[in-house]
Amino acid sequence: MAERNFYVTTPIYYVNDKPHIGHAYTTLLADVIARYRRQSGMPTFFLTGTDEHGQKVHQAARKNQRSPQQQADATVVRFQQAWEKLEITNDDFIRTTEERHKTVVRDILRNLYDRDEIYRAEYDGWYDVSSETFITPKDLPEGVDPESLPHISRIRETNYFFRMGKYQDWLVNYIEQNPAFIQPDFRRNETLGFLRKQLNDLCISRPKSRLPWGIELPFDADYVCYVWFDALVNYISTIGYLRDDERFKTWWPVDFHLIGKDILTTHTVYWPTMLKAMDVPMPRTIFAHGWWLMGDRKMSKSEGNVVNPMDMADRYGVDAVRYFLMAEMTPGQDATFTQEAFVKRYNADLANDLGNLLSRVHKMLCKHFDGCYPEPTPELLAQDAERNLWRTLRTAVDAVPPAIANMRPDSALFEILTAVRAVNRYLEIKQPWTLAKQNERQALGDTLYTAAECLRVCAALLQPVMPQKMRDLLQALGLPDKHQEQAAFKQWAVLQPSAALGSPVSLFPRAEKPKPAEAPQQKADPTDQDKNQDKINVITYDDFMKVELRTAEILAAERIKDANKLLCLQIRIGAEERQLVAGIAQHYAPDDLPGKKIVVVANLTPAKIRGVKSQGMLLAASHGDTLRLVTIDGDLPNGSRIK
Ligand code: MSP
Repeated sequence: MAERNFYVTTPIYYVNDKPHIGHAYTTLLADVIARYRRQSGMPTFFLTGTDEHGQKVHQAARKNQRSPQQQADATVVRFQQAWEKLEITNDDFIRTTEERHKTVVRDILRNLYDRDEIYRAEYDGWYDVSSETFITPKDLPEGVDPESLPHISRIRETNYFFRMGKYQDWLVNYIEQNPAFIQPDFRRNETLGFLRKQLNDLCISRPKSRLPWGIELPFDADYVCYVWFDALVNYISTIGYLRDDERFKTWWPVDFHLIGKDILTTHTVYWPTMLKAMDVPMPRTIFAHGWWLMGDRKMSKSEGNVVNPMDMADRYGVDAVRYFLMAEMTPGQDATFTQEAFVKRYNADLANDLGNLLSRVHKMLCKHFDGCYPEPTPELLAQDAERNLWRTLRTAVDAVPPAIANMRPDSALFEILTAVRAVNRYLEIKQPWTLAKQNERQALGDTLYTAAECLRVCAALLQPVMPQKMRDLLQALGLPDKHQEQAAFKQWAVLQPSAALGSPVSLFPRAEKPKPAEAPQQKADPTDQDKNQDKINVITYDDFMKVELRTAEILAAERIKDANKLLCLQIRIGAEERQLVAGIAQHYAPDDLPGKKIVVVANLTPAKIRGVKSQGMLLAASHGDTLRLVTIDGDLPNGSRIK
């Protein structure tokens, strides 16, 4: 993957805010993406920072009786400390009050002004004080009179305008020709919808008499620059625009501007037209993720419902917060934050599936092999169980890079946890504790060795999301970091027989279910309880998500002796082959089944039915005497998740 450089940015956050889960999410998303890229050997630059000009900082400074710069200096540390604590690996942190940024903004303004891309004119119209923007009645919901809104006032003043409107046709065309430019697709349509209205020129100045805190216009000392015009430039000022051409070309065009959906227009309309006027190539992708909601409301300071990521990290650990935020949100969609969902996922994925796996394997290797790796049978992967398990691991290894490239860390994690669960299933089938009792040392050693090899690969894949805990896991496996070079991910038998394991760790101690009073900020709607009272058969979304439904293909089917209702099926789920027993013999002949695409519950505890091993369950619908298999409509890769 190391063919070129990779540059990713977050929005720069308003310095007077306190970092909350929403800010942390964008920053973590960028961090995880950057870490995966670095892991694949790609030179990577990851930028975040703070937006420090504008009315809000000015007002807060007045309230606290200090200068705006002092105000920004006092509050920026909240972001810097938060990112440090969350193990964010940004390569730079830009503050828009830094000279290195301000000089570039001034040069851009001067240049655009000299080329008549910026002009002076009288503005007579509406101004929205809360968002610090000039608006027209078109920007308001239909029928709303601007005069009726307290935060909107009529102003008449001379200002400077950027000729944004003249780029409207060009921008529409560019967006249409470059589907990757705005992602996800429905956000591209949203911008195109916005561009169906006439695009006005953009007022890029504020008279100092009204707002003195900003970058002074180089051609008129009575004005400062509009805060968004200044802020957007951070993406290029930091990497050497107009100062260090070589450096600039190393990183630009940016691969991903990660933003929340709330700042789509500024990034997909203002910023591209500004770049066009400057003759700078366009960003490759502007990716807007959804919101973290509390109930059905956006989590934000103004709603008074924010969750502090630091509190969560203190309570459950930094890596658990990183994992939850990445696993729970599908970028692009909104996600709901609840303490219950957090604890559920933590206990299920991290404490049970991953943490217990390590502690089981570690304990047994210590007890039965003196804390050293046994010598595995040569050609161990020629055996069915080990070969299938290793294939599942390789499926995860192969699935991660495209998931990351498509901004789907949640699916990358899903694939990795599927592999972790497959290792647990393998142990349940192999029963090393029974092998130990029966003193079957070679089989026991093979089983534990295989599980440890798989854990090593899972740790490597999870490292960008949970850097501290995966370091601990690898240390417990006795592995120095160098084993986590990418080449080792697909390599079998990296663990050396007779090499020692490290000391044991308790990776993820089980978390207590939060007591209702502890669930932060959630205002229960008393009517909900009443509504649900007669709905006994109702499950939560989280309950449903525990069921891993996947598409599968039937490879072979045969009858089971003395069981007239049962068939034994060989199926493939992704790369993994499994056997399952299904009660469909009276409805399907074995020969009719191979090639059929079905739906299976992939995470059911394996069982023996009439003495035949069954690893999963297929879905079928029945009515009276008729039974039909559930299939999917159209083509999808085998093993696709159904949700
Ligand atoms: N300063 C501007 C951005 C300028 S970029 C050139 C700004 N700052 S902000 O502090 O309000 O942060 C906005 C970003 O924080 C959002 O776009 C989003 O990335 C993140 N989030 C803030 N609240 C959020 C949620 N509730 N959920 C998810 N992310 C949200 O706008």
